[in-house]
Amino acid sequence: MSAESHPHPHLTRARAWLRWLRALFQRPNDDPRKTLAVALVLCLVCSVVVSATAVGLRPLQERNAARALKSEVIKVAGLETTGMSLDQAFDQIEQRLVELETGEFVDDADPLTYSYRDAAKNPAASRALAEAGRAGIQRRPDRMPVYLVRENGQLQTIILPVYGAGLWSTLHGLLALAPDGRTAKALTFYEQRETAGLGSEVAGERWLSEWPGKVLIDERGEPVIEVVKGRVDADAPHAEHRVDGLSGATLTSNGVTNLMRFWLGEQGYGPFLARLSDENCG
Ligand SMILES: Cc1cc2nc3c(=O)[nH]c(=O)nc-3n(C[C@H](O)[C@H](O)[C@H](O)COP(=O)(O)O)c2cc1C
Repeated sequence: MSAESHPHPHLTRARAWLRWLRALFQRPNDDPRKTLAVALVLCLVCSVVVSATAVGLRPLQERNAARALKSEVIKVAGLETTGMSLDQAFDQIEQRLVELETGEFVDDADPLTYSYRDAAKNPAASRALAEAGRAGIQRRPDRMPVYLVRENGQLQTIILPVYGAGLWSTLHGLLALAPDGRTAKALTFYEQRETAGLGSEVAGERWLSEWPGKVLIDERGEPVIEVVKGRVDADAPHAEHRVDGLSGATLTSNGVTNLMRFWLGEQGYGPFLARLSDENCG
């Protein structure tokens, strides 16, 4: 018996489908069944094209995001980079992963490919907080990347990624600290979607320029930094712990106070900063 006389059942079914489709597309153009079929085929083709483009572009987007982050780290590190490529400039910075609970470095993962955003969504790599708290963080990643700048082996700058709720969006930034682990050297917010001209000033040069020299943590290790409503009286006690509020954007300003206090506290980088300061003193 030949294969031709008994074709494979899948082949028979495919042929039947093709015949049915051909008959459908041979119908007159004003037949609603043909209109529906054309719309369906168009939708299918478009969705395949859009999905393929999204998947195809993902590596490029990830590369661009990694480059953007590197350039933000370099900027907040305040390094001299004239004549250097981005990668050469970034090579001057040591990247490490920190286990927040213990404050110790971990070396079993690559800090460059580690994503604290993915970790925060993964129950195996993050911890649910009993209360979301004011910074709006429900799950805290177990590990965070940190960036260290050394000169002749001496620690110069500690750069910590920070994030937390603003009014409309999550603010993502980088805080550069002096080697004492308490004094700000620079701050940047490289991702936020607050209102342009109000909350978005959180990422503006003018406001960020108020941060260098502010003492964020007191002698007992408590985060005390506060973005106040209005202007800070330079002669008032604790002026070094206070930053001018953004006018018309008190809620975004409060978000910055909350996220700073969270990340500099016990649940954030507190144990890491305490360990660093012990090392620097001892
Ligand atoms: C359309 C609109 C957008 C706003 N965007 C922000 C914002 O991005 N951040 C913020 O803190 N307040 C924003 N506000 C204002 C807040 O509702 C609130 O009035 C303000 O934070 C209080 O700050 P103030 O006491 O300094 O005026 C916005 C208000 C409106 C009507």
